Amino acid sequence: MQKLKMQAADAISAAVSSLFAPATLSAQEVFEMLEYPPDTKMGDLALPCFKLSRTLRRPPVKIAEDLANAIQSDAFSEVSALNGYLNFKMNAATFASRIVNTVLDEGARYGATDEGKGKTVVLDYSSPNVAKPFHIGHLGTTVIGHSLRLLHEFVGYKCIGINHLGDWGTQFGKLMVAYRTWGSREEVEEKEIDELVRLYVKFHEEAEKDPALNDAARAEFAKLEAHDEENLALWRWFVNISLREYQKTYRMLNIEFDSYNGESFYTDLMPPQIQKMKDMGLLTIDDGASVVNLEEWNMPPCLILKRDGSTLYPTRDIAAAVYRKETYDFDKCIYVTSAGQCLHFAQWFKVVELMGYDFYDKLLHVPYGTVSINGEKLATRTGNVILLKDLFAQAIEKVKGVMEEKHSAAAADEKTAEEVGVGAIVFYYLSNNRMRDINFMLEDALSFDGNTGPYAQYTYARCSSLLEKAGAGAYRCHMESATEEEVALARVLALFPEKIQGALSESEPSVVTRYILELCAAFNRFYHDCQILSAEDEAVKENRLALTQAVKTVLGTALHLICMPTPNKI
Ligand code: ARG
Repeated sequence: MQKLKMQAADAISAAVSSLFAPATLSAQEVFEMLEYPPDTKMGDLALPCFKLSRTLRRPPVKIAEDLANAIQSDAFSEVSALNGYLNFKMNAATFASRIVNTVLDEGARYGATDEGKGKTVVLDYSSPNVAKPFHIGHLGTTVIGHSLRLLHEFVGYKCIGINHLGDWGTQFGKLMVAYRTWGSREEVEEKEIDELVRLYVKFHEEAEKDPALNDAARAEFAKLEAHDEENLALWRWFVNISLREYQKTYRMLNIEFDSYNGESFYTDLMPPQIQKMKDMGLLTIDDGASVVNLEEWNMPPCLILKRDGSTLYPTRDIAAAVYRKETYDFDKCIYVTSAGQCLHFAQWFKVVELMGYDFYDKLLHVPYGTVSINGEKLATRTGNVILLKDLFAQAIEKVKGVMEEKHSAAAADEKTAEEVGVGAIVFYYLSNNRMRDINFMLEDALSFDGNTGPYAQYTYARCSSLLEKAGAGAYRCHMESATEEEVALARVLALFPEKIQGALSESEPSVVTRYILELCAAFNRFYHDCQILSAEDEAVKENRLALTQAVKTVLGTALHLICMPTPNKI
């Protein structure tokens, strides 16, 4: 659609120069003004001429009429004026055929660009806190982060995915106290992460009654920071148990990281940064702690060192950013976390700027809203958590049931059940704008009939099966006339490149998810209303198979970009 839009913009820009000189309007300016009319009966593209009446000092109705008379372009079958709008109608069959063939020619690259060529993006995402549960609050950072990675790769960036594990901090002091007081080696060995979570929750329950436990925890963490052997060994053990657990989840989602350098990695990289802040006079002492005052920017102070000299979350983030810039020389460094951390990022981004690092404006925080399940809010500390792995397991079980009930072609297939179950959760999650708070309804997510992952995957499988039945072929599309459904479907295919751009510029994978639903709806309408395999005319049949092939291609790309598997049979 962009090509067509550019052609319209060129024609308008030329007409403006010849009709209204000395006024000029660049094609790019016109391009920005062009709209898609809500009803395609009016046209496929429209220029609201009131946007020009100031510059051209004429009423919109007059501008639209003059332009309509002046413009000649063979890309369009009709250019007309109505109520101050200049409407473009394309030659539907030609347009549809051209789009389909473009998709078939470009294949999995359709929609891609090389705008990121030679540039590097670091993406910091998922990053669970070791020894705390990997719960559904982390679903957002994991799938938004990975999808942003895939989107950037799609347009040519080199991507470095970093799992900034929360493997350092007071929680380890808490866990050590809890383990030594209420735990045992046998229990941890047997139940692994579940036992660590139990101990963590127990600590918080007990600390409510006995606040002295918090001091003990702080002391244990200080010992860890001082490289106490015994604490280091425990720490390593806890980290490994947790990592093994996370990796099971990542495998289900087909996610791999380039680096698992967590917070602990930056231990030795912090002192030089702290020194730099001191030298620059940025640190002030506040109740014994060292902070950077940010009053001027209407933010509370950024904490750098606690009273006992131990470092904090922002301190590690600052050291990590400097290290990443030196190591990867990124053009952009993206952090995906819950919106609860907005202030944290705003604060330390500012500190980086104050430290004189010129890459401060290449740091981007991408926040997202909260998640509850069936109306219940989650909280790690009280033990009211739903682990991601349990949610996946539940979804997979349910999917198996549905597939058996429906006598699906892949009913006994474990792998497909996993792909559909996990996919359902990912899709449901990524259907909403990321800042929106989500109430997860498992039943809704798993429905095969709603606007869900299973429905999208099912549509993909339907394309696969049609093409399989038709037999291999290098289909092309040469429509002489096209049905309404065919044109509507081609129009959706044509929108894909713009959606990719939108998803990237807004850091919003949901743009792709919603596009998938639009594409599925258009395809299913086409599928129900147009004969494909049973079309009598061979040429019509080939055109429709070409269309089906193009849908399968774009749907496959789009699903892949939001971390969704694409089974050929369901
Ligand atoms: N571990 C943190 C959490 O679970 C997220 C870390 C995000 N990345 C960062 N560089 N701060 O809340």
